[in-house]
Amino acid sequence: MERIGIGFLGCGNIGSGVFRLLEEQGEQIERNEGVTFEVKRVLVRSLQKKRACRVPEELLTDRVDDVLNDPQISIVMEFMGGVEPAASYMIRALSAGKTVITANKMALATRWQDIWEAARKHGAGLYYEASVCGAIPIIRALTDSLQANRIHSVMGIINGTTNYILSRMSSEGAAYEDVLAQAQRLGLAEPDPTADVEGYDAAYKLSILSTLAFHRHVPVECVYREGITEITPLDVQCGKAFGLTLKLLAIAKEEDGRIQVRVHPTFIPDAHPLASVSDSFNAVHIDGHACGEMMFYGRGAGDYPTASALVSDLIKAAKSKRHAWPAVQGEVSQVADDWTCVHFIRMLAVDKPGVLSMVSGKLAEHGVSIASMMQKDRDPHTGYAQLVFLTHRAGERAVRRALSEMDAQMVSQVRIIRVEGDERSI
Ligand SMILES: NC(=O)c1ccc[n+]([C@@H]2O[C@H](COP(=O)([O-])OP(=O)(O)OC[C@H]3O[C@@H](n4cnc5c(N)ncnc54)[C@H](OP(=O)(O)O)[C@@H]3O)[C@@H](O)[C@H]2O)c1
Repeated sequence: MERIGIGFLGCGNIGSGVFRLLEEQGEQIERNEGVTFEVKRVLVRSLQKKRACRVPEELLTDRVDDVLNDPQISIVMEFMGGVEPAASYMIRALSAGKTVITANKMALATRWQDIWEAARKHGAGLYYEASVCGAIPIIRALTDSLQANRIHSVMGIINGTTNYILSRMSSEGAAYEDVLAQAQRLGLAEPDPTADVEGYDAAYKLSILSTLAFHRHVPVECVYREGITEITPLDVQCGKAFGLTLKLLAIAKEEDGRIQVRVHPTFIPDAHPLASVSDSFNAVHIDGHACGEMMFYGRGAGDYPTASALVSDLIKAAKSKRHAWPAVQGEVSQVADDWTCVHFIRMLAVDKPGVLSMVSGKLAEHGVSIASMMQKDRDPHTGYAQLVFLTHRAGERAVRRALSEMDAQMVSQVRIIRVEGDERSI
C-alpha cells in the first residue's frame, strides 16, 4: 500500500469537506486505488477557531513553512481562496517539486502563466478540477475526453448564486433585492455578493474554460463582464412572453477566427437545454466539431460537491506516472468586442402615432431589422407603455448606435439584453 503525505493550505468550508470525505472514503480509496492519504499539516489563520471537521489540533499550524518545507508532504491541497498569498504558496510548492491541487479559480485565472511556468519548470503536477463548477468534471472533459475536437463554443451557467436569484425572480416574479436577501439568509449568497452578482466569479472561471477550449491563454482581463444587478422582474416577464428564459451566461465562442469571451445576462429559448437549469445548479453546454452538442450538469459549489472534485484530483495525481500540462500555446491578445446576436430591446415609449415608425426607422437605418414586437403595461393616465422588440441577428454596435439616435421625447429607459441560441427557435 502506497502512503502519501498531504498538506492543506486552509481548512474552512472546502478544506473541512475534504478532510471529512477522506475520513469517510479512506477505506474505499485504499481498497480500490491501493493508496492511503495521510494529512500531515494544515495551515490556517487562526489556531483557535472551531473547525467543521475532526482535524487533530497538533496538525494545525499558522506557519506556511511547516507545510511547504515538510519533506513528508508530496501533495499540497490549496483551499485558502484569494490571489495572494495563495498563488505564491502554490508557486513555492510547485517549485519544490510538490504536486498542487487547488479549488482557487481566482488565483489560477489571475496568475495562470506564473503558476503553470513553475509547474512545467519543476516537473510538478497541478490539478484544478474543483476551480470551475465544483463537482462537475468539466476540466477533465476539456483536457482529456474532448481533446480530438475543435471546440466551437462553451456556454455555461457557472455561478450558482446568480442562477438561484434569476430562477426565483422568474418563478416568483420577485425583485432582485428581495431574492438576494433571501439567498443571503439561506447562505447561498455572501454578505458582500459583488463577486457573484457582478459576474467576477464567472469571469475567472470562463478565463480557465476558454483557455482550455481554445488552447491559448485567455487572460481574465479579456473577458467582457456585466452582472445581474440591473435586471428587473419586468425584463424577466417580457422575456417569458417571447418564450425566453434569463440566465447569467458565460460564453466562449470562436467565430470567423476570432474569440469571444463574455459574461452577461442572456436570454435563451425555453427549449434550450440550459434554460431548465434552475436554482443553484450549474451546467456547461459544449459544441465541438466531432462530438456535437453536449451538456454537463450538477452542483457547482458546496463543501462536499467541491471536495468530490478535489479528492478525485488527489487520486488522479497519486496514480499519475507522468503529470500532464494543458496544451496551451501563446496568449490571446485581442478578443471580439462587437458580437452579432439577436437583441431583446425594451423601452418606455409615449403611446402615440409615429413612435413605432421612428423606432423601426432608426433601427433600419443601421441595418437592424425587427423580428417581433409587443406592447405592454399601457398606463392610461401617463400615456406611456412598454415597447419590447426582438431583432433579427445584428451587430451590437449598430443596435446601440440606432438606440442612441432615437428621439428622447418619445422613448426612454432603454434596456438591451442579448439573446443566444438558434435564431430559428427564438
Ligand atoms: N465554498 C464553495 O462552495 C467553493 C466551491 C468551489 C471552489 N471554492 C474555492 O475554494 C477556496 C476556499 O473556499 P472556502 O469556502 O473553503 O473558504 P473559507 O471557508 O474562507 O476557508 C479559507 C481557509 O483558508 C484559511 N486562510 C485564508 N487565508 C489564510 C492565510 N493568509 N494564511 C493562512 N490561512 C489562511 C482560513 O483560515 P481560518 O479558518 O483560520 O480563517 C480558512 O481555513 C476558494 O478558493 C474558493 O473560491 C469554494
